[in-house]
Amino acid sequence: MRDTFINAIDIVQILSAILVFLLGLGLLIVIVMYVVDVNQTSHAIRRNFPVIGRFRYLFEKLGEYFRQYFFAQDREEMPFNRAQRSWIYRAAKGIDNTVAFGSTKDLRPVGTMIFVNCPYPVLESEVVPTSTLEIGPYCRQPYRTDSIFNVSAMSYGAISKPAVLALSKGSARAGNWMNTGEGGLSPYHLEGGADIVFQVGTAKYGVRNPDGTLNDEMLAEVTAHEQVKMIELKLSQGAKPGKGGILPGEKVTEEIASIRGIAAGADSISPNRHPEIDSAEELLDMIARIRDVSGKPVGFKTVIGAYGWLDELFELIHERGLESAPDFITVDSGDGGTGAAPMSLIDNVGLPIRESLPLVVDRLNHHGLRDRIRVIASGKLVTPAEAALALCAGADFINSARGFMFSLGCIQALQCNLNTCPTGITTHDKRLQRGLVVSDKAERVYQYAKNMRKEISVIAHSCGVKEPRGLKRFHVRIVQQDGRSVPFDELFPDVQPASGVQS
Ligand SMILES: Cc1cc2nc3c(=O)[nH]c(=O)nc-3n(C[C@H](O)[C@H](O)[C@H](O)COP(=O)(O)O)c2cc1C
Ligand code: SF4
Repeated sequence: MRDTFINAIDIVQILSAILVFLLGLGLLIVIVMYVVDVNQTSHAIRRNFPVIGRFRYLFEKLGEYFRQYFFAQDREEMPFNRAQRSWIYRAAKGIDNTVAFGSTKDLRPVGTMIFVNCPYPVLESEVVPTSTLEIGPYCRQPYRTDSIFNVSAMSYGAISKPAVLALSKGSARAGNWMNTGEGGLSPYHLEGGADIVFQVGTAKYGVRNPDGTLNDEMLAEVTAHEQVKMIELKLSQGAKPGKGGILPGEKVTEEIASIRGIAAGADSISPNRHPEIDSAEELLDMIARIRDVSGKPVGFKTVIGAYGWLDELFELIHERGLESAPDFITVDSGDGGTGAAPMSLIDNVGLPIRESLPLVVDRLNHHGLRDRIRVIASGKLVTPAEAALALCAGADFINSARGFMFSLGCIQALQCNLNTCPTGITTHDKRLQRGLVVSDKAERVYQYAKNMRKEISVIAHSCGVKEPRGLKRFHVRIVQQDGRSVPFDELFPDVQPASGVQS
């Protein structure tokens, strides 16, 4: 009896020892994982949320198996579905982006685009580089570039210092431009060495007088930087037409306030329109003034809703002379992104790019201004097919904001306005910014831009044209209600210059 009792005690002691050992081992593994996660540089989530951040990758992996039964399908989520995000993540990592077995894309829904392949695609040996275009032929310093895919406006303020740095370094390497957004020009935009498009927003941040009007001396100083190649006057932005920028006070640090020329800690709210631009005349006056001061190409950014004003503007350009024209128009989609905007505007106002882009190109053609005014398109053009469609519709260049955010590691947590971005992109919380390692993410920005260009070209070659600029509307078809596709140029027939119009 006594022996049995002693044996039982022994077993309990052995089991306890094993338990303590396992707990100790588990703790050791957690500590090792913690140290590895905190010190590794390639995953922002693991760096910011050591150990528990690993579950995201586990669930993401398991999701591939379970999602099809329980949750969203690959192509269901908004604003960007998993198929789009995965493509960008892989492109940004420069890893194999081929898929096996067949497409998971349903080609039947209305609006689906289908590119028209050519029976005799372009041979590798026949491929030519994307042609260079000149922007601003009447300026003292026109800008010439072949970069079809570029970083759209995102202000330093809406995005963090490491995000700006990674974008500028990656862009410099890839050879694309980077738009400052309306928050002014920061040293971090310049540090990477990329070409810069300086945006003048409605509050004229960085180039303003205390009353919010444009200060010509400051504008001259900012635009004198060699890297600043063009100036974009922001009339409106797709996510919030008719509403100015909103940067919550907690994101307005001392440094951001001083770059913008405003008070720190207070909400940074820009007017919903340039107070001095209320007509085609005043728009052209402002463009002329900025071009005079800077000597560089000047264009404007807008989301299209009403469009009669374009005819009025283009007629006025002919009256004043071709040199008075904006050097480019950036057409932003009604479903564009933003740091913060009211849902009523984000959801309901402004035409999507697929409709507005051909419309603007057609109005330019009609007025014989297609060669004078370059067209830049933005709005969910984050994968090669969407970008190629924009080229077919008539865009000369494409801008993307959220595509590049994904390349920086954005997980679509949709908290950009809260200063709590878990990947360090849209937060000024130093602890969270630590996850965004500039050197690593700059490489991803570079890879993403490079792979976008490469695969846009692949689509072009499949359609039988030697370079992306050869893509025309007839190269893509759009699925209709009856399940059949029609050529894009049937939906938006090419427009010729009106008789008597000089281009
Ligand atoms: C975080 C963030 C900040 C932005 N800031 C600006 C800005 O300062 N000025 C502007 O014109 N557009 C701004 N945008 C809009 C983008 O430049 C772009 O027009 C829009 O998001 C559509 O492109 P996308 O679909 O590739 O994101 C911002 C977008 C995001 C996501
Ligand atoms: S991770 Fe979320 S909060 Fe951060 S940039 Fe992406 S959507 Fe915005």
